[in-house]
Amino acid sequence: MDFLDLAKSRYSERSFDQRPVEQEKLDKILEAGQVVPTACNYQPQKFYLIRSEEGLKKLRQVTPFHYNVPLMILVCYDARLVWRNPADRYYENYNSGEQDASIAAATMMYEAEELGIHSIWIRGFDSKNVVDTFDLPEYMIPVMMLGLGYPAKNSKAHAWHYKNRPIDELVEER
Ligand SMILES: Cc1cc2nc3c(=O)[nH]c(=O)nc-3n(C[C@H](O)[C@H](O)[C@H](O)COP(=O)(O)O)c2cc1C
Repeated sequence: MDFLDLAKSRYSERSFDQRPVEQEKLDKILEAGQVVPTACNYQPQKFYLIRSEEGLKKLRQVTPFHYNVPLMILVCYDARLVWRNPADRYYENYNSGEQDASIAAATMMYEAEELGIHSIWIRGFDSKNVVDTFDLPEYMIPVMMLGLGYPAKNSKAHAWHYKNRPIDELVEER
């Protein structure tokens, strides 16, 4: 499928079938998150797989937006590996971690879509709670969670999916 058609066909899945994501598909999704560009190629992205009964129980404790997903990837960055730009006068102590992790997450999201696996991007959680519950080291910074699975029979996109701001509001010449 043409990439733009793939991008348009993706929507946030909030109604999952309990069928597990096959390991071969998961391997490809993770590889998609491995090969992304990162600042100076430092590769600070880190993926925690949450799919065991115990892990999914913890997941339900840290976010109301778990949607009974069979597989969640908690995407973090390792603060020891980020590119830093102390010369940036606009941001205080700018580092590239969120960008690096987000590129990895987005690329995994579209690889999943290509494989027929639906996804949901989740940021509705308290990072401290996530760090404590999943016992992450202090240098591992949670960025988002990517829920993955097959859609339930009644699955459909939320109305928000169809609301796009006009392109001329998003784009400007300078
Ligand atoms: C940074 C970010 C955070 C989001 N957090 C949540 C969330 O916590 N819960 C949720 O249900 N959806 C979440 N979403 C999904 C958005 O609501 C969704 O992408 C948006 O409404 C557009 O709909 P679509 O993805 O179906 O096209 C998040 C998306 C992004 C990019």
